[in-house]
Amino acid sequence: MSDAPSTTTASKPRRILVSSALPYINGAIHLGHIVEAIQTDIWVRFQRQCGNECYYVCADDTHGTATLLRSQREGIAPEEIIRSTSEEHQRDYKGFGVEFDIFYTTHSEENRELVEGIYEKLVAGNHVHWKSVRQFFDPEKEIFLADRFIKGTCPKCKSEDQNGDSCDNCGGTYSPADLINPRSALSGATPVERESDHLFVKLSDFEETLREWVSPDRLQPEVVNKLNEWFSEGLRDWDVSRDAPYFGFEIPGTGEGSESEQGTKYFYVWVDAPVGYLAAFTKLCNETEGLEFDDFLKPGSDTEMYHFIGKDILYFHCLFWPALLHAGGFRLPTSVPVHGFLTVDGTKMSKSRGTFVQASTFLQYLPAEPLRYYFAAKFGSGLGDIDLNLQDFVQRVNSDLVGKVVNIASRCAGFLHRLHDGQLATELHQPELFDTASSAADHIAELFEQREYNRAVRRIMSIADEANRYIDEQQPWQLAKDETKAAEVQAVCTTGINLFRLLMIYLKPILPNLVVDAEEFLGTGSLSWADAATPLLGTNINKYTALMTRLDLKAVDAVIEASKADQAAAAAPVLAPPAGIELEDEITIDQFTPVDLRVARIEQANHVEGAGKLLQLHLDLGEEKRQVFAGIKAAYAPEDLVDTLVVLVANLAPRKMRFGVSEGMVLASGEGADVKLVRPQAGSVPGDRVR
Ligand code: MSP
Ligand code: ZN
Repeated sequence: MSDAPSTTTASKPRRILVSSALPYINGAIHLGHIVEAIQTDIWVRFQRQCGNECYYVCADDTHGTATLLRSQREGIAPEEIIRSTSEEHQRDYKGFGVEFDIFYTTHSEENRELVEGIYEKLVAGNHVHWKSVRQFFDPEKEIFLADRFIKGTCPKCKSEDQNGDSCDNCGGTYSPADLINPRSALSGATPVERESDHLFVKLSDFEETLREWVSPDRLQPEVVNKLNEWFSEGLRDWDVSRDAPYFGFEIPGTGEGSESEQGTKYFYVWVDAPVGYLAAFTKLCNETEGLEFDDFLKPGSDTEMYHFIGKDILYFHCLFWPALLHAGGFRLPTSVPVHGFLTVDGTKMSKSRGTFVQASTFLQYLPAEPLRYYFAAKFGSGLGDIDLNLQDFVQRVNSDLVGKVVNIASRCAGFLHRLHDGQLATELHQPELFDTASSAADHIAELFEQREYNRAVRRIMSIADEANRYIDEQQPWQLAKDETKAAEVQAVCTTGINLFRLLMIYLKPILPNLVVDAEEFLGTGSLSWADAATPLLGTNINKYTALMTRLDLKAVDAVIEASKADQAAAAAPVLAPPAGIELEDEITIDQFTPVDLRVARIEQANHVEGAGKLLQLHLDLGEEKRQVFAGIKAAYAPEDLVDTLVVLVANLAPRKMRFGVSEGMVLASGEGADVKLVRPQAGSVPGDRVR
C-alpha cells in the first residue's frame, strides 16, 4: 500500500519519523487518545524491532481560546496550565506503554520560529491576503466567539440551549446567525455581529502539489476518495488568523501600521499545531547527537515521515498541512495513516453511561497491556470505528493471553526444571512445527507494516493454538512419569518453549512489558524480529513466574463506576445550591434550621491525584473527624490551610467520589481562583454550632 521499502527485505535500515496527533491541553487523556497512541506505538516498536531507525514525536496542542478562558477562570498562567497538564498527559501515555522519543509543547520557541518561517514564505509567494469577515462578538467579554461558544434555540426543531452550528436534538446543522435567541456561552450576553479583517491562505495555489501527493499508494482508499470530493468541490481559502484576545503566536506584520489597521492578529491554533510535529523533532535533534533535522525534512530525502491521526482531522492533515510543508520548503509526508473512533459497547463514549473513560481512571483498576492487546486484535488498516466491548475484552484477554499464550510457557517450564535443571535440549522434537511458525515471520511483519494488526494477531494466535495442540498430543506429564523418557520430555518441552519464544517475538510490539519479563524467563537478550529465524537450544531458562493474570469483570465495572464519578466531580460546582432550589426562592426558618453548620479545624490538607480542582481536607469537629473534598485548589495551597478554622455543613449526606467519600461541605464565597473560605471568628472552637 505504501511506496516504502518492505521492512524485512530492506538491506539498509529505514529512517522513519512518526507522530501521533497532538492532544489538546484542555482535557485529560482518555481512551480515545489511547487508541491512537497504541496504534502508533505498536507500529514504532515494530519498526525498531526490525532494526529500523524510528523516531516517535508528540506534544501538547496548547494554543487557542479555550486555554485563555481556562487561564482567566482559574487565575493560573497558561504556562503553568501547560506545565502541569503536560506532566499528567505524559504520565498517562507512559502508563499505557507509549514510548515517545519526545513529548513537547506547541508553545515553544522552536515552534514559533518554524511557524514564522513558513508564514514568511507564504507571504513572499503571494499566497496570503486580507479579507473582512463578519463574526459574532461577545460585547460583555469583548471577544469574538467561535461557533461552539454560541448557544441558542434550534431554528429547525425549536429545542432550547443548542450549539452554534448543530442541534443535539434533531441533528440539524445551521449557521449561528440562524439561531433563535442566540447567547454567548461565555457571558450569556446577546452576541452582536462585527466585521474583522482576517488573513487567508489561498489553498488553491497548492492544488497541483496536493493532487500529485494524494495517491492510493500513499493514502488509504477512503481517504483518497474524501480528498477527491474536496478537490471537486473546489479548495476554499483558509482563514489562518484570529483576533485578540487569543492565546497563541502573534502574526508578524499585523497590528500597528499594518494594512488592516486593526490590532495584532494571532495564528489560528491549527496553523501552529501540525508545525508542532516539526518543533518537537527540532528539539529532539538538538538533544540527540548525530540526528539531523534536514535529513528528514528536506524535499527528496530518502527518509520517511508518517502522521497517525483520527478521521476527524483529515482535512487539516491532508490539505492544509501538506500545503504548509510545501510552502515552507519541506518534504511532504510519506503517508497519513487514519484510524476510526473508539466506541464502547457499540456506542459513542458517553459521560453519563460512564464509558467516557480517562486513561488514569482505567489504570487505577486495570493493567495496560491487556488493552493494548485488545485494541491490536481489533485494529485494521481502515477507517472503521473500534469497539471496546467490555465483556468481550475480559473474556478475550483471559482466553487468548492467559489461557493460550503464557500457558505454553508454564506447561513446559516445570518439566525442564524438574528433570533437566532448566536446560533446553540441543535439538527440537518435530522441527517442522518450529519451521512453519518461524517462517510466518515475514507475513506477520507485512501485516504489522500495513497496520493490519487484527490479522497479525489472528495469525499469531493460530500459532499459539498449534503449540497447545502439540503439547496436548505429546502429553509431557505422562512422559515424565517414565524415567527412560526424560530426553523426550526435554525435547518436547524445548519445542514448546521455542514456539512460545516465537510468540513473544511476534507479540513484542503489542506487549512490550510482558515480553521483557519473558526475555528474562527465557534467559535471552532483547528479542529482535530476526531472532525468529533460529531456535533457542541448549541454553538454560529461568523459573517460570506468572507472566499475566486473569482479568476480573469486577475491575471493569469499577472503571465504569469511577468514570461516572469523574464526570460528576467535573460537572458539580462545589458550592452549588441543592437541586430544586433556586437561589432567589425564599425559604422559611424551618427550612434553614435543619442545616447543621459547625466550626471545624483543618488538621491536614492534601492534593488529590487526578482531581483538577479539589483538595482533600481532614477536619477536626471536636467530637469526631471528617474527610471532605473541596473545590478550592485554585485558591489555596494545602500547607497554608493547616490549623485554620472553617464552617462545615455537617449533616450533608456523604457523597461518594472517585477519590473517596466526602463527608460534608465547607462554606466559601466566590469562584475559581477567587474562592474564599468562610472563617469563623478567632477563638471559635471546633464543634461549635454556627447560627
Ligand atoms: N489537537 C488536535 C490535533 C492537532 S494535531 C496537529 C486534536 N486533539 S484531540 O485531543 O481532540 O485529538 C487528538 C487525537 O485523538 C486525534 O487524532 C483524534 O482523532 C483522536 N481521538 C480523539 N477522540 C477519539 C476517539 N474517541 N477515538 C479515537 N481517536 C480519537 O484533534
Ligand atoms: Zn433541532
